Amino acid sequence: MVTREIVSVTDLVTFLLYINVFTDPVKTLIDFTEQFQNGYSGYERFIGMLDVMPDIEDAKDAEPLEQVQGNICFQDVSFRYEKEHDAVLQHINLEVPAGKYVALVGPSGIGKSTLCSLIPRFYEVTDGRITVDGKDIRRLQLKSLRDNIGVVQQDVYLFAGTVYDNIAYGRPGASREEVMEAAKNANAHTFIMELPHGYDTDIGQRGVKLSGGQKQRLSIARVFLKNPPILIFDEATSALDNESEKVVQESLEKLAANRTTFVIAHRLTTIRNAQQILVLTEQGIEEQGTHEELLEKMVFMQACII
Ligand SMILES: Nc1ncnc2c1ncn2[C@@H]1O[C@H](COP(=O)(O)OP(=O)(O)OP(=O)(O)O)[C@@H](O)[C@H]1O
Ligand SMILES: [Mg+2]
Repeated sequence: MVTREIVSVTDLVTFLLYINVFTDPVKTLIDFTEQFQNGYSGYERFIGMLDVMPDIEDAKDAEPLEQVQGNICFQDVSFRYEKEHDAVLQHINLEVPAGKYVALVGPSGIGKSTLCSLIPRFYEVTDGRITVDGKDIRRLQLKSLRDNIGVVQQDVYLFAGTVYDNIAYGRPGASREEVMEAAKNANAHTFIMELPHGYDTDIGQRGVKLSGGQKQRLSIARVFLKNPPILIFDEATSALDNESEKVVQESLEKLAANRTTFVIAHRLTTIRNAQQILVLTEQGIEEQGTHEELLEKMVFMQACII
C-alpha cells in the first residue's frame, strides 16, 4: 500500500507505534489475570490445609509421658484403616520389655508398618489398647508420646535444604557439634564430608542426589540427635548394595543399644541379631522367639512332616 501510495510512510510508522502502545497494557493485563488466578487458587489450597482438623487429638485429661522406660504392650489390638475396609490387624497381643531389640517379619502387605505406626498414634486402634510403661497411649499427651519415639521410615523423607538442616530437624535447637556427633554415630560423617560443600550441601530438588543407603543414614543421624527411648525402624525394602547394607546395619545396631527397638526386618542379618523375632501372618503373631529357637522349631516341624 506504501508502494501504491495508498498509505504514506509516516502513517504506517505512526500506526505501528500506536499498536505497540495499545498492546502493551493488554499484555500486562492478561499476565496479571493469570498470576492473580494462580495466586488465588494457591491461597485457597493453603487455607483449606489449615482448616483440616487432626483426627487424633489429646484427651481432655491427657498426662505427659515422663521418665520413659520403654515397656510396650499391645492388648488385644485390632485395627482397620476405614470402616468399610477389612481389618489389617486382628487381636494382636504383644509385650516388649524395655530395652529389647525386636524384629518383626512377615510377608509384604501384611501390616508390619501399620502395627508400628499405631505406637506413635499416627492412627487410632479400632479395638483393644496399647500401653507404654503401663499407660494407655490414648491418655497421654501426643507431643510427649511422639517426643519419646524415634522413627526411621521405609522411604526416607528428606526436605529441600542442606544436609545440616535435614539432620538438625531431629532436634531443633541442637548445636553444630551435636549434629556432627550424630552424623558420626550414624556412619554418615565421611560421605557428608565428601559432598561438594560438606554439611552445607544442598540436597533439595536441584541439589545433589544421595543413594538409598546414604539417605537412610541421614535419617538415622536424625534419630541419634533426637535420642528417644523408643525406636521404630522400618527397613527399606529397596535393595542396598552389600557395603551400604553393612554400614546401615552397623549404625542401626549402635542406635538400638539401650532402647526399646522395633525393627521391621527384610534382611537376614537384622533378623539374626534381634533378641526376639515376631512373625506376623494373617492369623496375627504366629511365632515368637530368637533366631535359633525359630530355626529349631522349623527343623522340628519339618521332621514332623517327614
Ligand atoms: N494409609 C492406608 N490406607 C488404607 N490402607 C492402607 C494404608 N496403608 C496401608 N494400607 C493397607 O494395609 C495393609 C498393610 O500394609 P502395611 O504397609 O502395613 O504392610 P507391610 O507389612 O508394611 O508391607 P511391606 O513389607 O511391603 O512394607 C495393606 O493391605 C495395605 O494396602
Ligand atoms: Mg512396610
